[in-house]
Amino acid sequence: MRAVGFEAHGNPEVLKVMELPNPMPGPGEVVVRVLATSLNRIDAIVRRGYPGIPVKLPHVLGADIVGVIERIGPGTDLGDFSVGDVVLVNNVWGCGTCRFCRVGLEDHCPSWTMPGFHVWGGYGELVRVPVRALVHPPKAFGVNELAALPLAYGVSWKALRVSNVNPGDWVLVLGGSGSIGTALTMLAKALGARVIAVSSRGDVLRRLGADVVVGYGRDELLGVVRERTEYGVDVAMDALGWTLPMAMDAVRPGGAVVTFGVLGSDPTFTIDIRRFYLRHTRLIGIHNSAKSYLVELLNFMSTKGLKPYISGIYSIRDAPKLHSMMESRGVVGKVVMIHDWED
Ligand SMILES: NC(=O)c1ccc[n+]([C@@H]2O[C@H](COP(=O)([O-])OP(=O)(O)OC[C@H]3O[C@@H](n4cnc5c(N)ncnc54)[C@H](OP(=O)(O)O)[C@@H]3O)[C@@H](O)[C@H]2O)c1
Ligand SMILES: [Zn+2]
Repeated sequence: MRAVGFEAHGNPEVLKVMELPNPMPGPGEVVVRVLATSLNRIDAIVRRGYPGIPVKLPHVLGADIVGVIERIGPGTDLGDFSVGDVVLVNNVWGCGTCRFCRVGLEDHCPSWTMPGFHVWGGYGELVRVPVRALVHPPKAFGVNELAALPLAYGVSWKALRVSNVNPGDWVLVLGGSGSIGTALTMLAKALGARVIAVSSRGDVLRRLGADVVVGYGRDELLGVVRERTEYGVDVAMDALGWTLPMAMDAVRPGGAVVTFGVLGSDPTFTIDIRRFYLRHTRLIGIHNSAKSYLVELLNFMSTKGLKPYISGIYSIRDAPKLHSMMESRGVVGKVVMIHDWED
C-alpha cells in the first residue's frame, strides 16, 4: 500500500510517501480502505516522538479514519456490517476484555490502542481495524466531514458530557481556534450554553457562536468573566495546560475545571490545593473518548444540523506542509486529507 509515513522522528520533512506491506486482518478485524483522514495535534507529537511511548519504525500516523471495509479477518463476525460498507472508525480501541471495555468504557482501558499512535493509521491507504471500533455513519455527513469528527469532536463531546454542561451555563473554552477550541465552542453553543472563548483569532470562534472572545491575558479574561457571569463560569475547559491557573480562577464555586491537553509548555507546575477545596471546584481529567460518545455525538450533530468546522481539504500528499502549518499555529479548525492517490 501507499502511505505517508516516517522512518525517523523529527521535523515535518521526515514524512514521506512510501510503499509499505498491505496490512492483513486478524481474527475480529477488518481491513479498511481509507477515503479520508484528518490532522490532529497528536500526529505532530508522535512524529516528533511521544515521550515514553516508542513506536516501531516505519510508522504511519492518522487517528481519524473513514473508509470502506475491504477485507475480513479469519472467523470474524461482521455483525450488521458488510464488505463494501463505508464506515467511520472510533479512534480509541480498548482490549475488549477488561472491566472497562466490558461496560463500553474503552477510553479507560489500560491497554488502549490508537491508530496512528500505537499502530499504523489513516495516513495509509489500508488500515487494520477491530470490528468493535466500526460505526455506521449517518447519511447527514459526507466523507470529509466524517473524517473530521472522531478524535477532536469525540473528545470535546465527552468533555462537555462528563462535566454536565447544561443550557444557560457559562463555558470557558481555553483551546484556541484549533481542532478542540472550535469543536468545544460549536458543541457547547448547540447544547444551549454560553461561551467565553480564549484565542488569538477571535473571528473564527465568534462565527461559531462564542458570546465573547478574548485574548490570553489573565486580567482581560478575568475581567470579562466578572462582567458577564455573576460568580464565574460553570465549566472551564482547558486544552492548553499553561492556562490551567486561569481556568481555576475563572470557575465559579462548585464549578468544574476540565483539563485535557498540554501545548507548548512544561506540564508540571505547583498549585495551592486550597484553590480547589475552598471553592468546591471539581477537577476533571479527560483522556480519549469511547465509541458510545461518538455515536451520541453523531446523533446530536445530525439532529441539530451541525457540521464540523473544516478550514481546508487537502491531498494526503500534503501532510508534511500541513504539519508545518500546524506547528507554526497556522491551522484553524479541522483540516482533512483525502486519499487521492493517482497512479
Ligand atoms: N486528552 C485528549 O484525549 C486530547 C484529545 C485531543 C487533543 N488533546 C490536546 O488538546 C490540545 C489542543 O489540541 P488541538 O488538536 O486543538 O490543537 P491545534 O488544532 O493545534 O490547536 C491548538 C490551538 O491552541 C492555541 N494555542 C495557545 N497556545 C498555544 C501554544 N503554546 N502552542 C500552540 N497552540 C497554542 C492556538 O489557537 P489560537 O491561535 O486561536 O490562540 C492553536 O491553534 C493539545 O494539547 C492536544 O494534545 C487532548
Ligand atoms: Zn480494555
